Amino acid sequence: MLAETPNLEVDLGFIKLKNPVIAASGTFGYGDEIVDFINPSLLGGFVTKSLSIKPKPGNPHPRTCETPCGMLNAIGLENIGIKRFINEKLPKISSIDTNIIVSIFGENITEFSEAANMLKGIKEISAIEVNISCPNVKKGGMLFGIDPVISAEITESVLKNSDKPVIVKLTPNVTDITIIAKSVEKAGAYAISLINTLTGMAIDINTKRPKLGNITGGLSGPAIKPVAVYMTYKVVNSVNIPVIAGGGIMNYKDALEFLIVGAKAVQVGTANLINPKACLDIIEGLKNYCIENRIKEISQIIGSLKI
Ligand SMILES: Cc1cc2nc3c(=O)[nH]c(=O)nc-3n(C[C@H](O)[C@H](O)[C@H](O)COP(=O)(O)O)c2cc1C
Repeated sequence: MLAETPNLEVDLGFIKLKNPVIAASGTFGYGDEIVDFINPSLLGGFVTKSLSIKPKPGNPHPRTCETPCGMLNAIGLENIGIKRFINEKLPKISSIDTNIIVSIFGENITEFSEAANMLKGIKEISAIEVNISCPNVKKGGMLFGIDPVISAEITESVLKNSDKPVIVKLTPNVTDITIIAKSVEKAGAYAISLINTLTGMAIDINTKRPKLGNITGGLSGPAIKPVAVYMTYKVVNSVNIPVIAGGGIMNYKDALEFLIVGAKAVQVGTANLINPKACLDIIEGLKNYCIENRIKEISQIIGSLKI
């Protein structure tokens, strides 16, 4: 007898996802190049590379290096700028039948507001993700995201200047992530996403120099998963808005950990760089897990943690 196909849909309240798997910012480009490898319409959504009002060249090379169970990156938010994204990339991705989430950042609050404003009225965009969590820039990024007051001010300014649901992406490089989570929730964020990368450093013992041109970078991949699961657990128990979580998800079992802890959806980053099909494999794995365990709706798994 054929098992019933499980319903993988999740409802974030402000958008519906056909499944809980979202490709994370910076690991999926602008969504236009991936079509050579996979059908992105099968995803729950994808987040674009973080965009600023003007193009940015990013940090000096080398910008990435491998670490045990992960990688360091210090791209420095290189991007083509919102204008070029709208003119050149959006026409190519607008036919993709999934949630397009545009990540924005700025070096001050005005730039965040302006970025949000530039995306107004574009119906193809499902939501905005506010990046206040990049560890690899000298101005803005995580320097904002470690401060609950500035985090709230940025959230408010983006909301004021946007006609889209606003997701705020948090940094793990804080003592207590729930303080920032509660602050952006109070400021009106529709959802929280977490975690961005953990600040790290690696040294070449022959040259005695840092392996990254930027000296420090952000750690991602399997090494950070236990930290990410812990932070998800803390945040879902401290706010009432949906939490989209990730950090080190390589396969469907990793994704399940986050859903069980209470994340409504997951973001997959580094895995895309190793296997462009990673998100699709995870969706397939979640479907089979539901079939094997006679789970009709993936939403039954969300928050099913037993202590
Ligand atoms: C090469 C690279 C570039 C990234 N660029 C961005 C970015 O532009 N904006 C952002 O919010 N996060 C960025 N991230 C962080 C990821 O979206 C994700 O939050 C983080 O890597 C943790 O997930 P993972 O372990 O699955 O990669 C980047 C990560 C990597 C590896």
